Amino acid sequence: MQVFILGGTGSIGTAIVAELVKRSHKALGLSRSENSDQKLQSLGATPLRGDLAEPVVWAETALSCDAIIQVAATFEDNMGDVDATAMSGLMRAAERRSEKRRLIYTGGCWLYGETGDGVATECWPFNPLPSFAWMVAHAQMLLESHHFSTAVVHPAMVYHTGDGGVFRRYLSAAKAGQPIEIWGSAATRWPLIERSDLARIYCDLAERPELVGHFNAVAEEGVAVGEIASAISDAYGLPHEVTVRRDEDVIAEYGAWAKGPMLDQQMSGQKVKTALGWGPVFADYRCSDVIRKVEK
Ligand SMILES: NC(=O)c1ccc[n+]([C@@H]2O[C@H](COP(=O)([O-])OP(=O)(O)OC[C@H]3O[C@@H](n4cnc5c(N)ncnc54)[C@H](OP(=O)(O)O)[C@@H]3O)[C@@H](O)[C@H]2O)c1
Repeated sequence: MQVFILGGTGSIGTAIVAELVKRSHKALGLSRSENSDQKLQSLGATPLRGDLAEPVVWAETALSCDAIIQVAATFEDNMGDVDATAMSGLMRAAERRSEKRRLIYTGGCWLYGETGDGVATECWPFNPLPSFAWMVAHAQMLLESHHFSTAVVHPAMVYHTGDGGVFRRYLSAAKAGQPIEIWGSAATRWPLIERSDLARIYCDLAERPELVGHFNAVAEEGVAVGEIASAISDAYGLPHEVTVRRDEDVIAEYGAWAKGPMLDQQMSGQKVKTALGWGPVFADYRCSDVIRKVEK
């Protein structure tokens, strides 16, 4: 199978490319720099130079592949606008073709908002942070398109070896021998998934175009951040000493997106387990190497 990936050099995308190559699929990745060309090539993918905001450059190549995976994001104020340009450009190009294409789009656990003691399944109503509301609308547009068979993956909080992913801040503090700073409350729960486990979900879905709709990608439904901080402190031989910062102070310093990691969330991954027969290799984050192998 030939797969075109947007965001193949990112935190999640690199793991997807590695998994595609491992499965002997041919991966083509959008690249916007020499550095990204090299990153894709070293993973075994072929780079295509272009920018997410200029779909006219890459949409025809993307549509010539068997499946397209969208896991790119600018993480700037223009994030929603660039995604709209990319996805509507892709749709316009798809209208000129008769056959449907497989498309895997990316949402995320933050789209469900705070779940508290509830557990968000794919039937849970979306309640996104305002800065991510566009993602729900774009996912809906793609699901309704007759030109694509679309699956929308909602990754939980993603951790990995390398910089640690969502554990990065905690790991950096522990490595420096400093108390871990918790944003909001130590009781806040994060749904979790390790990124190679997540990559298998993307690849499984790319291979199964009959499966359409929303798919949560989660290995652990909800783990309290205070518990994660304790586990990391234990790994570094540190006392269970944390500093807790108030929500409003965190948002004042980092901006509105920082509300995301302060959402108390639980998310179910049962649908993916049933539909794909998927199961996580890392069912417990403490069994991974991540909390010991951070690179600063
Ligand atoms: N990480 C998580 O825990 C998590 C959880 C849930 C959902 N998500 C969602 O998953 C998606 C990817 O997240 P991530 O953590 O993998 O992000 P990331 O590491 O920042 O990767 C972003 C990717 O987008 C590419 N990109 C950015 N702007 C571009 C542009 N103008 N043209 C072409 N490519 C561009 C980057 O390319 P360069 O390498 O050239 O910069 C990179 O490949 C996001 O939508 C995010 O909201 C992430």
